[in-house]
Amino acid sequence: MLSIKNVSKKYSNGFTALSDFNLEVESGVIGLLGANGAGKSTLMKMIATISKPSQGHIYWNGQDIHKNGDVLRQDLGYLPQEFGVFPNLNAVEFLNYMAALKGMNMRIAKNRIEELIDLLNLSDAAKRSIGSYSGGMRQRIGIAQALLNDPKILVVDEPTVGLDPNERMNFRNLINGLSKDRIVLLSTHIVSDVESAAEKIALMNKGKLICFCKNEELLTSLQGNVWECLVDETELNKIKNKYITGNITRRSEGMLIRVISEIQPSQNAIIVQPTLEDAYIYYTARKSGESNE
Ligand SMILES: Nc1ncnc2c1ncn2[C@@H]1O[C@H](COP(=O)(O)OP(=O)(O)OP(=O)(O)O)[C@@H](O)[C@H]1O
Ligand SMILES: [Mg+2]
Repeated sequence: MLSIKNVSKKYSNGFTALSDFNLEVESGVIGLLGANGAGKSTLMKMIATISKPSQGHIYWNGQDIHKNGDVLRQDLGYLPQEFGVFPNLNAVEFLNYMAALKGMNMRIAKNRIEELIDLLNLSDAAKRSIGSYSGGMRQRIGIAQALLNDPKILVVDEPTVGLDPNERMNFRNLINGLSKDRIVLLSTHIVSDVESAAEKIALMNKGKLICFCKNEELLTSLQGNVWECLVDETELNKIKNKYITGNITRRSEGMLIRVISEIQPSQNAIIVQPTLEDAYIYYTARKSGESNE
């Protein structure tokens, strides 16, 4: 059980990156969704015991992780947003090295490494030095090291950055395939990354938690408030100034615009099914006060 209580983080330059953040997670895949600068990495670094909260506490199974970090560290798999590798080591050597640092039994580690190399499609490159890997391959070796010790809490910061569509899908399947009695905390600003993988979404904006709920609940909250309308250039600008708007698609007859609003934004607007992207746009825009609605 991970429990984040009234956590704030103020950096030494005086900037508050996280304020009064509360979250309780027992198990399952949680998507931490927020724009650049929302505070996702700040939060994850504190959960991984890399940095400390300025205020508040984080508990793992009832223990304050900034007083007794080892209880969490032995259960943790962490992929930082930016991580270093040893470019001269190959994948097997690197994972062996990481396993040794984690204090794993080397016989267990050997089997686990073979399994992970296969799972992350690195078999063909396993004996090549990591320095020669592409960005996506490097990311996959990062995911592999986070999974080495079969962690009870897996914290992965933007794990899908640099992955091509096939590897993104593989990653989602990998996350879905992890047993349900662990916590997976996955940060991203790409809505589709968490749409199928995450059971619950923690939506963050400017250092604050906006909501923590199931995907379906987010969608239900917008039911009847998402519209599509075909407009010309003049009307498009009027609507964009007045309402929270999403995707705009160019059509031969004009522009098809998605609008999130409690009232009908134009006479020909029709109600459509909300998507998670609509919810993301709506809740982040609303809290930023960008709407004139
Ligand atoms: N060491 C630091 N000192 C001062 N400010 C920082 C520091 N690290 C992060 N920040 C600021 O805190 C805010 C949150 O940063 P953070 O990296 O947590 O965001 P993020 O949600 O992970 O964004 P991204 O999607 O770009 O990774 C940003 O405004 C950032 O500039
Ligand atoms: Mg980040």
